[in-house]
Amino acid sequence: MYTTLKEVTDRAEKLNYTVGAFNTHNLEMLPDMIRAAKEKGAPIIIQTSVDTAKYIGHENLVAVCKSMATKEMVDVVLHLDHARDFDDIKEAIDKGYTSVMFDGSHLPFKENILKTSAVVEYAHRFGVSVEGELGTIGGTEEGIHVDDNDKVYTDPKDAIEFVKATGIDALAIAIGTNHGQYKSKTEVNIPLLRKINAVVDVPLVIHGGTGVKETDIPELINNGIRKFNVGTELLVAWTKTAKETFGDTELNKSLRHNVIPCNQAVKEIVKSKIDIFMNKKDTTFKKEQTISV
Ligand code: 13P
Repeated sequence: MYTTLKEVTDRAEKLNYTVGAFNTHNLEMLPDMIRAAKEKGAPIIIQTSVDTAKYIGHENLVAVCKSMATKEMVDVVLHLDHARDFDDIKEAIDKGYTSVMFDGSHLPFKENILKTSAVVEYAHRFGVSVEGELGTIGGTEEGIHVDDNDKVYTDPKDAIEFVKATGIDALAIAIGTNHGQYKSKTEVNIPLLRKINAVVDVPLVIHGGTGVKETDIPELINNGIRKFNVGTELLVAWTKTAKETFGDTELNKSLRHNVIPCNQAVKEIVKSKIDIFMNKKDTTFKKEQTISV
């Protein structure tokens, strides 16, 4: 089914797992990402940046996600990642995305609340889910770099107010992750996550999933992470494989011989992430109730 972020994260909350949100960068890799979810019997969130949506075409992305969701019988959410401009968000909603992120994390707190609320007001009219962000995630996203010194962790007290005032469906939090970190792993601040999860009742979102240690993932799931973003790892695998396959190809050889291995590399990563995200080993929900902030 072509569905919403709220729908898939509600179910993930009940069964204590997290839903993989995978960034696609071209139309080539997209079908294999959805096929990976089908093979694993899992829902999938496909996300694009504003620029990727414009490059591929919103309608094309919607058409592929919708038709594959129906044909393959997979729950697919199409989500706009890190949009800062209301017009970009409106365009995605009007053209059929089922979920959007308004990233007001760079704005003063009150302005972030006001602008996120306006997005929620518009999106909910069409049954579209909204992710907001508080605090700053490190690294580079769409050319915007956040220096380590400028990283601000999410304040649990702000999170309570932000969620209540905006009516968002999911909250992206800053607990030490960085966008684009693929050569090393980060230290996530689990105690801070516990505090946020104890006081906020919407699904929480991890950005910069490539740089998160696999061994930390069960703990993140047990503390309310219901959407887990992975982008760079897929991108690196696709590009690395493309360098190999295109490197010594005959000029007149059908492109698919070079592109299929790239898509396959992405598919294998999505499948292995989903195995971890479905948290099959531990289905006990352990939300911390006793922590005060
Ligand atoms: P990575 O590219 O670091 O995996 O992060 C993806 C992400 O958070 C997209 O918003």
